[in-house]
Amino acid sequence: MDCQTLKELDARYIAGTYKRSDLCLERGEGATGYTFEGREVIDFSSGIGVNSLGYSEPGWVAAITRQAVKLQHTSNLYYTQPAVELAELLIEKTGMSKVFFANSGAEANEGAIKTARKYSSDKYGEGRHGILSLLHSFHGRTMATITATGQEQYHKHFHPFAQGFVYGEAGNMEDIKPKLTKNICAVLIELIQGEGGVNTLDKAFVQELAAICLKKDILLIVDEVQTGIGRTGTFFAYQQYGIQPDLVTSAKGLGGGLPIGAILFSEKTAEVLGFGDHGTTFGGNPVVCAGGAYIVKTMDEEFLSQVTAKGHRIREALKGVPGIKEVSGLGMMLGFLHETRTASEIAEACLKEGLIVLTAKDKVRLLPPLNITGNELEKGLFILKKVLIQQ
Ligand SMILES: Cc1ncc(COP(=O)(O)O)c(C=O)c1O
Repeated sequence: MDCQTLKELDARYIAGTYKRSDLCLERGEGATGYTFEGREVIDFSSGIGVNSLGYSEPGWVAAITRQAVKLQHTSNLYYTQPAVELAELLIEKTGMSKVFFANSGAEANEGAIKTARKYSSDKYGEGRHGILSLLHSFHGRTMATITATGQEQYHKHFHPFAQGFVYGEAGNMEDIKPKLTKNICAVLIELIQGEGGVNTLDKAFVQELAAICLKKDILLIVDEVQTGIGRTGTFFAYQQYGIQPDLVTSAKGLGGGLPIGAILFSEKTAEVLGFGDHGTTFGGNPVVCAGGAYIVKTMDEEFLSQVTAKGHRIREALKGVPGIKEVSGLGMMLGFLHETRTASEIAEACLKEGLIVLTAKDKVRLLPPLNITGNELEKGLFILKKVLIQQ
């Protein structure tokens, strides 16, 4: 196969919902991808925050292979070991109470929204079903999560959208307080808005919001689909905010490259969903969960402190580069603005030079694999700086 043929077949057979960049990857190792022609590209995107341990990390491959050979799937009508092991690890890392496994971030958020509505209807009766999310957020592409996504551009074409969603301004309690009416059952937030432009929420704002939610018995759902699983230097980002969410959603990096989503329930919400309330055929798949358990076990204190250190190294490398206006984010989830060049211009130029970076609105977004080696990190930073210095 060559790249040109692949592009033609893709255009012929795959629905045109993605604007692909000019890159055909055949294989990868660590943070380095290889094209069909054998060209090397350093990857600062991790497949949008999914490949936590880079491409085909040997221990992860061994874990999923061992499980695939043993038992690749059975229905959720029966017990399987990997799902239980992964759930136990997630509980140990967080102090949450229970887990539901889904297959994607959107599904995890969809399930969390359902949980919040059931919590409220069980306790307060019908009508208290409103969800407040934030402007510039991104929560997924299902009908409920696309509605929860606080960006107008997604609220076209697919009417009627789900009912009962309102939007608040991140950082602005004056805007939010009057919207937390008696009909609101949950607040849904990302602590760093990833797709919305790597906007880090202010700690004091988040703590005040959490305190109001607690007082009004409004559930706090923290969407950690992009920020979770070590990405920001703690296992979940909320652990740096001094808050206790009622529901945490996870996906992306949890599977290390295979599809998974998870809802983590606190003690308060652990028993809300009962028999028959929710389910999915593939949720808790043994192969995916075996890989997930390997990923979670890797993330000890030492690993997480390395994530923080590498994040500092990236910030330091960007300091003083002419044209860079503002660096945002935490750990290895970073974004920056350039004074004169657009994010997509920079991403395109990086790719030509052998580096994959992402964009998020008008920012360049960096999500390197968390175990990226010093050598690969420096190679990538060298390319990035070279591109940024070029006019
Ligand atoms: C914060 C956040 N929530 C939810 C999603 C949706 O996840 P998925 O694409 O796995 O459905 C994303 C995807 O980018 C995300 O960044």
